[in-house]
Amino acid sequence: MSDVEKLKKDLISAVEAARDEAALEAVRIAALGRKGKITEQLKGLGAMSAEERKVAGPALNGLKQAVGAAIEARKAALEDAALDARLAGETVDVTLPVRPRHEGTIHPVSQVLDETIAIFADMGFHVAEGPHIEDDFHNFTALNMPPEHPARQEHDTFYFNEKPDGSRMLLRTHTSPVQIRTMMDQRPPIRIIAPGRTFRCDSDQTHTPMFHQIEGLVIDETTHLGHLKWCLEEFCKAFFEIDNLKMRFRASHFPFTEPSMEVDIGCSFEGGAIKIGAGDDWLEILGSGMVHPNVLAHCNVDPDRYQGFAFGMGLDRLAMLKYGIPDLRAFFEADLRWLRHYGFRALQVPTLGGGLT
Ligand code: PHE
Repeated sequence: MSDVEKLKKDLISAVEAARDEAALEAVRIAALGRKGKITEQLKGLGAMSAEERKVAGPALNGLKQAVGAAIEARKAALEDAALDARLAGETVDVTLPVRPRHEGTIHPVSQVLDETIAIFADMGFHVAEGPHIEDDFHNFTALNMPPEHPARQEHDTFYFNEKPDGSRMLLRTHTSPVQIRTMMDQRPPIRIIAPGRTFRCDSDQTHTPMFHQIEGLVIDETTHLGHLKWCLEEFCKAFFEIDNLKMRFRASHFPFTEPSMEVDIGCSFEGGAIKIGAGDDWLEILGSGMVHPNVLAHCNVDPDRYQGFAFGMGLDRLAMLKYGIPDLRAFFEADLRWLRHYGFRALQVPTLGGGLT
């Protein structure tokens, strides 16, 4: 066998033996690179006699082409094999069951918000919204709390810096400004709930600087205190899922309602745990009353023609009571262990239709 034949045989078997593209590239460089075996031989052509070159030239060029073609073919085969392996590795078996480990849960506040909206929607309420950053008029003045009103002090308000005109924006301290916004851009009859974030500078086991409230407002020509009472009784029974829930409407005071009532539900504190619907103790859960004529007048709603009621309650507090969660601060600490314990799985939330079981 001539030298050229032998070299061809050796190089082609090296090409065939290359297991991946890197190995194949190494063979290519060893054969056809600047210092490769074939390249070296081609360089030798110049030193040959014309006669010798006539024979060796075509032989070497044939070698170069044959090895080049073998490399190309091997390269294509390796690429196909790599693609096949990748496709096989990425196959998804869609018939496999969902992995048991779940990453996220529904926060108790979201859960209670959904339940609350469902109950009021069933009674014909619409959901209304307002901004977190409010002005003094909507948060206080229009709600019958003029600048010198003492009730303003109880709100522990977060204020922004003064504007050039001396006014200061604030973080809304309750959802009641949504009453004002709704009455100013809608004509009665009005029947809305307004859930959302509220802010007060306060922090202990039952207070956080940010918390959630849900406001209710009903305005028309005939709504009276009896409607208010019925509406809140129905809500509490549906929410706590207790038909004979004891409730107490206790005279109270809010500048924006007259008369005003706080609502307590019957419970027991025995053994350090709160049990709703049993025992002789009372727990306050919301504030309510008939909308004050001054509030209607501030919104250009004629108090001689229209009347209605409003209420406001803490959503976080409702969640604590219904689901037995002792500390409010943990609600907002984003502790995954807490979220996994108290959160709801997406497909396992209690629903009004399905109850808690
Ligand atoms: N805004 C009151 C509060 O935050 C609650 C309330 C709303 C009371 C509507 C009466 C009517 O305490």
